[in-house]
Amino acid sequence: MSLLQEEREIILSNEYVDIFDFSEVAEFVTNASKELFISHHFSKKDKMLVQPRGGFPTYEKQFSLYNYLVDANVDVLPLTVDSNTRLNDYSTAKKMLRLSEENEIDMLNGYPLVTHGYRTTRRMITQFNKPVSLRHGTPDARLLIETAIAAGIFEIEGGPITYVLPYSKNFPLDKAFLYWKYVERVCADYSKMNKPINRESFGPLTATLVPPIITIVIQLLEMLLSLEEDVTSFSVSFSQHGSMNQDIVTGAVLRKLVEHYAAQMDCAGANIHLVYHQWMGAFPSNKNFADQLINLSTVIASMVGADKIITKTREEATGIPTKEANAKAVADTQYSLRILNGLPNVVDEQEEEILTLEVHAIMEAVFNDPADTLWRKVFNSIKNGIIDVPFSPHVINQNKMITIRDANQNIRIIERGNVPIPDRCYEYEKAQCDLSKDTTSIINDIIHDIGIMQ
Ligand code: 5AD
Repeated sequence: MSLLQEEREIILSNEYVDIFDFSEVAEFVTNASKELFISHHFSKKDKMLVQPRGGFPTYEKQFSLYNYLVDANVDVLPLTVDSNTRLNDYSTAKKMLRLSEENEIDMLNGYPLVTHGYRTTRRMITQFNKPVSLRHGTPDARLLIETAIAAGIFEIEGGPITYVLPYSKNFPLDKAFLYWKYVERVCADYSKMNKPINRESFGPLTATLVPPIITIVIQLLEMLLSLEEDVTSFSVSFSQHGSMNQDIVTGAVLRKLVEHYAAQMDCAGANIHLVYHQWMGAFPSNKNFADQLINLSTVIASMVGADKIITKTREEATGIPTKEANAKAVADTQYSLRILNGLPNVVDEQEEEILTLEVHAIMEAVFNDPADTLWRKVFNSIKNGIIDVPFSPHVINQNKMITIRDANQNIRIIERGNVPIPDRCYEYEKAQCDLSKDTTSIINDIIHDIGIMQ
C-alpha cells in the first residue's frame, strides 16, 4: 500500500466518519454526471459562471437554499462549511447540528459536511446535478475534502498559504503545506477517473490593502504547488481592489504569468481559470448601496474577462445572508452579465510592465531560496518576508510592507520591507502617492481604509 493510501486510511478512520468505502467512492466518481464537474463547464466556456457562497447547518435548509439559487439561475452551487469543522472540531459541529435541528435557530455558520457525511450530502448534490464548490478556510482539510469528493463536490477551494495567512494566528505553516500536498494528490488521483477535480486558490487574502503583486505571487505559487502534484484544472483568483484600472491590469498580468510559469514547469497542458471576487472588504449597511457595489463588481469582472464571479449579497454588512438575498444577488449578477455587451478593451501597458517586473523579481527570489523543494522555498520566503501579506494575523508573517491608496484608489507600496521590489518599480509606486502628508494622516488613511466602500 502506498504511503498516501496509508495516510488516507488513518484520516478516514475517524470516529466522526461512518465507514468510508474507498472502492464505492471511486466507482461513484468514475460514473458521476459530467454536470457535477465545474471543469466540464469551464471547458464549454460560453459565459462567465456565477457562484455565491452559502451554507446552513441542516440538510433541509441547505436543500432549500439550493432550490432558491437554482431558481435564480445559478451556475455553480456553493457549500460553505461551518467554522468548527474548519478547525477540525467535529465534536462541537455535531453538538451544534443537533441543537440546530431541534430549534429554529442556526447554531452553526455553515454546513457541517463531515458530520452530515458523504452519503447524505451526495443525495442532495446528485439531485440538483449542478457543480458544487467547497468553500471553507481549513488549514488541515484532509478529512473535509475526502468527504466532499465522495459527496460529489468536484471543486475544492483553498491552499496552504491562502487558507492560513488570512485566517490563523499560529497554525504551523509547514504542516499546512504537507496537509495541502495530500489534498492536491487526492484531487489529482480522482481527476484521472472522470473529468478533472478543479482546485481554486483564495486570492483575496486579508482583502485589506493587499497590493496586486502579493496576490499574484501567491496565486502563482499555489498553482505551481498544485500542478506539481499533477492537478490538471486550477483557478487563480483575486478580489476587487477599489480601482477598476488596477483590477484590469491585475487580471491581464495574472493571465499572462500563469501561462508563463505553468509552461516553465512543463505543465502547459493544465487548464487554468480566472476567478473574480466581488468586493471582499467591509460592505455598506445601506442595502441599496450594497446592490450598487455588487453591480459595479460585476461590470469590473466583465472588463477583466473572468471565467467565474463569486457574488456577495445586500446583507453582507449584517451577517450570513438569507436564501432570498443570496438568490437575488445571483439573479442580479446574471442580469448584469447578460446586458453587458460590447465592452471596450482597456490595456495599460505601463502598469502591466511595472507589475510584471515586480512579480518576476519576487518569483526569482523565491526560486533562489536554497531549500530543496518548492514548498520549503515558499515557506522560507514567507518566514523571511520576501512574501509579506498586509494585515495577516499570522505570527510568521513579517508585516513590514506598508501600502496606501493613490488618488485613483490604486493600492501602492510605500514601504517594501523585505519584499524584493525592484528599485525602479518601488520609485514608481511611491511617485503615484501623496507622500508630502504627515505620518499621522497617512496612518489615519490606512486605518480608515477598511470603510472605503461604506
Ligand atoms: N452562507 C453564506 N455566506 C457566507 N459567508 C460566510 N459564511 C457563509 C454562509 N454560511 C460569506 C461572508 C463573506 C464571505 C467571506 O463568506 O458573508 O461574504
